[in-house]
This record gives sequence, C-alpha cells and structure tokens, in this order.
Amino acid sequence: MKKILVTGGLGFIGSHTVVELVQAGYEPVIIDDLSNSHVSILDQLTAIIGYKPVFHQLDLCDEAAVQNLAATETDIEGIIHFAAFKAVGESVQFPLKYYRNNFYSLINLLNAYAGKPVNFVFSSSCTVYGQPDQLPVTEDAPVKPAQSPYGNTKQIAEEMLQDMMASGSKYKVISLRYFNPVGAHESALIGELPIGVPQNLVPFITQTAIGKREKVTVFGNDYNTPDGSCVRDYIHVVDLAKAHVAALRLMEQDSFTGYDVFNIGTGKGTSVLEIITAFERATGVKLNYVIGPRRDGDVEQVWGDVTKSEQVLQWRAELGVDTMMSSAWAWEQAIAKKPL
Ligand code: WQD
Repeated sequence: MKKILVTGGLGFIGSHTVVELVQAGYEPVIIDDLSNSHVSILDQLTAIIGYKPVFHQLDLCDEAAVQNLAATETDIEGIIHFAAFKAVGESVQFPLKYYRNNFYSLINLLNAYAGKPVNFVFSSSCTVYGQPDQLPVTEDAPVKPAQSPYGNTKQIAEEMLQDMMASGSKYKVISLRYFNPVGAHESALIGELPIGVPQNLVPFITQTAIGKREKVTVFGNDYNTPDGSCVRDYIHVVDLAKAHVAALRLMEQDSFTGYDVFNIGTGKGTSVLEIITAFERATGVKLNYVIGPRRDGDVEQVWGDVTKSEQVLQWRAELGVDTMMSSAWAWEQAIAKKPL
C-alpha cells in the first residue's frame, strides 16, 4: 500500500484528507506538532477508518527531527504538506513567527526527502490572488501583492517549489489553491476546531447557533456585490480532501512531470448573507446577526474558475452549501455534547 506522509494530519483539512486517503487505498502517516490540533482527533480518525494510523508528534522546524523522520519513514511515495500557521490576523501581528514556521518546515521537509521519487502536494491558497481583476479567477491570473504575511508565505512557498523544480529536482509537485473550506465529515467525528474566538465565518456561525457566541457580526454590507456583503467560494472540506487524492493520482501518471497548480473551489460565489440564509434553511436554526463595519484586509469578492481542475485534475466539488452548513452544525452539536 502506498505510504503518504500527511503533515498537519490532525488538523481540519489534514484529518479529512487522512480519511479520503484510506478510502482510496493509501496508507497515511500522520505528522503533527499539536500546536493547532488535538491528539484526540487520532481516536476520532481510528473510529472512522477502522484502525489507528501511524502518528509522529514532530516539529517540522526541527531539522534534525525531520532528517530522523526520513531515516525511519523511508518508503514514502507521497507527501501532503498541510502543516503551517494560517491565521491571517495573527500573521499581521507576528510576521516573523509565520515566516519562520511556514518556511523552515517546508524547507526541512523538502531537503529530507530530496532525491527520492516523491509526489509532493502543497497546501496553497486563493489568498495568492488578492482581489482578482477578473472573476472567476483562473490559475494563470496574476498573483497580487499579498494582503498579509500569511498570504505572502503561500506566494513565496509556491515560488520556492517552482525554483526547486527548475533546478532539476526529482520531486513531482502540485500546489492546490484552496478557496474557503467549511463543513465537516458526515460522521460528525472530525471537523473544524478553532482555538479561542473563531476568525472564520462558519465556525463563528455554528458557535453562535449553539449559544457559545452572542451574535454573528457581518463585516460590512456596503460592498459592490449583489447584497452588499463579501463573496467567497465556499467548498465542503470533504470535497477539498478528495482533491488531494486526485492530485496524487495525477502525479502517479508518467505523463505528469514537474510542477502544476490547481484551483480547489466550487466555481460559485456565495455572499456572507447567503451563507447565513443557507445555514438557517439547512438547520432550521434562526441566527442572531448584526451588520458591522468592514474587516481590514478583506477582499470584496473572489471565487475560482475550476475548469482546469475538472479537465486536468479530473476532480470537481460535489457537495452543496446546504450540506456544508448542515454538516458544520452537526459537528458543533457533537462537540458540545462530547468535548474533545
Ligand atoms: C469569509 C467572509 C469575512 C467572520 C479564509 C482563510 C484564508 C483562506 C481563505 C486558506 C469574509 C466574513 C467572517 C465573521 C464575517 N483559506 N466574516 N463575520 O477571510 O475569506 O479567508 O479562507 O488558505 O486562510 O482565512 O475567510 O471565513 O474569515 O471570512 O462577516 O465573524 O466572512 O468578512 O467576507 P476568508 P473568513
């Protein structure tokens, strides 16, 4: 069975990808430093996949530890690299923490497995586009100056990977530019676990609905959009996880060489107010929300052109916004009943 290293494998997207890897016949090896995840997710994953996956608690910024990992986990055929700090606001407050962590971890990992025929999937982001000039945004759209150090780490990481490939690296590499991952696995055993006050919209909605937060504040309704609130491309995390399996499959083909990048979204824009309406429709729960001021750094509207992912990656999102909302709500209720 093909062994795939999954860094950040106990995190939100990482854990959902571990499930899809097993469903697809791969053997995931989880690496996580538990800085932004819970070790109890390992038990949740065991309940879903039917066995306890191999887990190494490891700080990827520790070069010796990563070299040691490569010396012990030698038969790795693929790497999916999620492990990174990813809070946009925090990255503005502590930029060097973000540059150190996100670059040291990537470079240590690439060095440790260099020279081996490994297929490498990089977790990138639609934040590289900033506010696109044209919508839906395609992969060949100009990368805009990052709006945050977090976004900059994704942009620079993509450049690092391209430079590495240009130097004749044995790796095959695919960068997946995620839009807005939301929702949870149908088992409600894994999902998004924000630490502290959620920065992202959907966990804030579900925590408000469960009574942990008083109300949702819509950050601005005076944008140049149909209902005045910002528009994003929300994608179910399970669809997003399946895109990583598709990326491995593509790189396993001899015809694939070098580096490529794909938009991982639904190709559909949905506004904040439409998400709130969808949540209420899908769950029957009335949401307490108010309109507040705009949030610094927000782009007005972004959604992806997913033609290339459909035609080349042979992948497309299948789950709709109501399923995103109902699964997020089921997960919130599950952790309220039985905290992890
Ligand atoms: C979505 C919309 C807010 C909270 C995220 C990640 C980023 C990248 C893309 C991976 C915005 C509005 C939010 C709230 C609100 N993912 N909002 N009230 O900013 O699009 O970026 O997905 O790389 O890393 O941060 O997501 O969920 O924070 O905001 O009105 O309480 O919801 O203004 O328009 P964002 P978000």
